[in-house]
Amino acid sequence: MNKIIAKLEQQQNLDRDEFKWLLENNTAELRTEISRRAQIIANESFGKGVYVRGLIEFSNYCKNDCYYCGIRCGNEKANRYRLTESEIMDCCAMGYDLDFRTFVLQGGEDPDFSDDQMVELISKIRNKYPDCAITLSLGERATEVYKRFFAAGANRYLLRHETATEDHYKKLHPKELSLENRKACLENLKEIGFQVGTGFMVGSPHQTVDNIVEDLVFIKSLNPHMIGIGPFIPHQHTPYKDAKAGTLEETLLLISILRLMLPQALIPATTALGTIDPNGRELGILAGANVVMPNLSPVSVRKDYSLYDNKICTGDEAAECRVCLSKRMEGIGYEILTHRGDYPQK
Ligand code: SAM
Ligand code: FES
Repeated sequence: MNKIIAKLEQQQNLDRDEFKWLLENNTAELRTEISRRAQIIANESFGKGVYVRGLIEFSNYCKNDCYYCGIRCGNEKANRYRLTESEIMDCCAMGYDLDFRTFVLQGGEDPDFSDDQMVELISKIRNKYPDCAITLSLGERATEVYKRFFAAGANRYLLRHETATEDHYKKLHPKELSLENRKACLENLKEIGFQVGTGFMVGSPHQTVDNIVEDLVFIKSLNPHMIGIGPFIPHQHTPYKDAKAGTLEETLLLISILRLMLPQALIPATTALGTIDPNGRELGILAGANVVMPNLSPVSVRKDYSLYDNKICTGDEAAECRVCLSKRMEGIGYEILTHRGDYPQK
């Protein structure tokens, strides 16, 4: 076996130049070997089970202007929507009937969805579904606000660091946003007791191999419970509309590297991966991922939660996505598990 892969598997870490070597020698042969090892490690942790999370994209209003993102405030062409509390509760009810035991509430940083409203919503979901995990993906908030969300019953928080290199961060974000604050938020969330997820886009504009190496080093030091990576895909109404999309091959290699670095981590095969390749999610699972996140948002708003162009599943009812994903997983010898799928697994 390749010595670097063997070292990564044994030590769950590498030196910077070794990570760099893997990224610069991403051949089909290397990927076959590393994904085989990553799959074995994932199977040791999770068997052939894949956890499912129901994603509710409840608002596409955002006060931020991240240069890569289709729902950035500067995109005047975006058709903005915000689900009402009762629409969100309906999504949860539908998800519960489809056996989902994790709800992921994701949205832009929407100032008109107040912290009080959010706390009330989390409490309602917590009371109605005591057996479900509530995951939030709402961006950067004050520590006191994160504490209120946690006290109301939220369990997990997804906040991708996006890039661990200062000057790269500046190329992706306006000056109001800082990597320092992003990292501080992640530390605060962990401290409060959330299961925390971070991650980055593969192939984001101006990303270098050294940037990715820094992402890996940062993720190892944070030791998150969840890691979300997916290819960057351009959106037609952003400054990076002409940038190249991230590749399937690089994303798969990184999933395998991350699996070997953090054997217990919850790693989704993302919708973006399914968007750049029709079998992207299956390939992601075979590369070491162990989570899928079908969409529970009402079909009427799906196409408006447009982070990037040509997003899949925008016309499918939640039940169709559920059946489709079950079949896709069965097709590769895996099955969807319907329990909460906490970290470490119960
Ligand atoms: N507002 C929350 C936040 O900032 O974490 C959650 C929503 S945000 C749109 C979710 C994630 O979408 C981001 O962390 C980013 O990595 C990803 N994303 C945004 N634009 C993308 C694009 N063009 N291609 C791929 N992923 C993208
Ligand atoms: Fe939505 Fe396949 S997961 S249609």
